[in-house]
Amino acid sequence: MLGDLSVTRFGYGAMQLAGPWVLGPPADHAGALAVLRTAVELGVTHIDTSDAYGPSVTNELIREALHPYPASLHVVTKVGARRDAQGGWPTARDPESLRRQVRENLDHLGLDVLDVVNLRLGDAEGPVAEPVAAAFETLAELRGQGLIRHLGVSNATPEQVAEARAIAPIVCVQNMYNLAHRHDDDLIDALAADGIAYVPFFPLGGFSPLQSEALSAVAARLGSTPMSVALAWLLQRSPNVLLIPGTSSVAHLRENAAGAGLVLSADDVAELDKIGR
Ligand SMILES: NC(=O)c1ccc[n+]([C@@H]2O[C@H](COP(=O)([O-])OP(=O)(O)OC[C@H]3O[C@@H](n4cnc5c(N)ncnc54)[C@H](OP(=O)(O)O)[C@@H]3O)[C@@H](O)[C@H]2O)c1
Repeated sequence: MLGDLSVTRFGYGAMQLAGPWVLGPPADHAGALAVLRTAVELGVTHIDTSDAYGPSVTNELIREALHPYPASLHVVTKVGARRDAQGGWPTARDPESLRRQVRENLDHLGLDVLDVVNLRLGDAEGPVAEPVAAAFETLAELRGQGLIRHLGVSNATPEQVAEARAIAPIVCVQNMYNLAHRHDDDLIDALAADGIAYVPFFPLGGFSPLQSEALSAVAARLGSTPMSVALAWLLQRSPNVLLIPGTSSVAHLRENAAGAGLVLSADDVAELDKIGR
């Protein structure tokens, strides 16, 4: 669940649909539309995006492929960073910039209300311990105006999650987490107890896909693939984990959707748990 919005635990992250370095259009425009349409055909009801991807490329692809959206589909976006000419991700969290990014997301996605907006914190290196109140209050204000249904935070420290929650309710935290990067283990459990979703980004390792002998060994034993096992491991990690693996390939999307349903034994999980510890 994302607040009162019911979503499939297997979702889709749209970042890989933009061009190289998440800049510009995809080389295969029709292929990108096919990935999005296949996701919905497979039953996915949770798509993650950001106007910073491209910029605006993935949002416009989502609109072209899927608008008018099925009532069951929920698009989650992020604000708080923009792109510079070098492809960097400078922060953009002053109130006027956040208001503009929300308006641009609405416009590019063709929506009157955004289902979920995550405030993207920190920088490209990871979370940064700094106050979030001014930025999060701006998003709470936009939520109060009816432009946003639910809020979340991304790339956040546990302290920032608490600071945001003192200002307005959140329905999700989107942080980097996978088999090999488990800094958020305690946070995941605390959020689960409070009914808040945890949405790992880079679930497959992101720009450096996960590689591990133990992962390959478990996959071989199960007659599956390392990527499938990595996703299945995340789903069994905690009931509040929602997946948004990224891919630009219909074949990989199908493989991931099927693979995430893999059932892992207690022995498999114990072996996989050693990777990140
Ligand atoms: N909040 C944030 O700051 C933040 C940061 C990064 C990402 N995100 C979100 O998280 C989502 C997921 O992250 P991500 O896409 O960067 O990383 P990811 O899901 O960990 O990995 C994507 C990479 O894995 C490859 N891949 C996917 N399925 C595969 C398969 N079955 N076999 C082999 N390779 C496979 C993809 O290549 P192919 O295209 O060739 O399949 C791509 O290179 C993004 O789409 C974005 O929405 C958020």
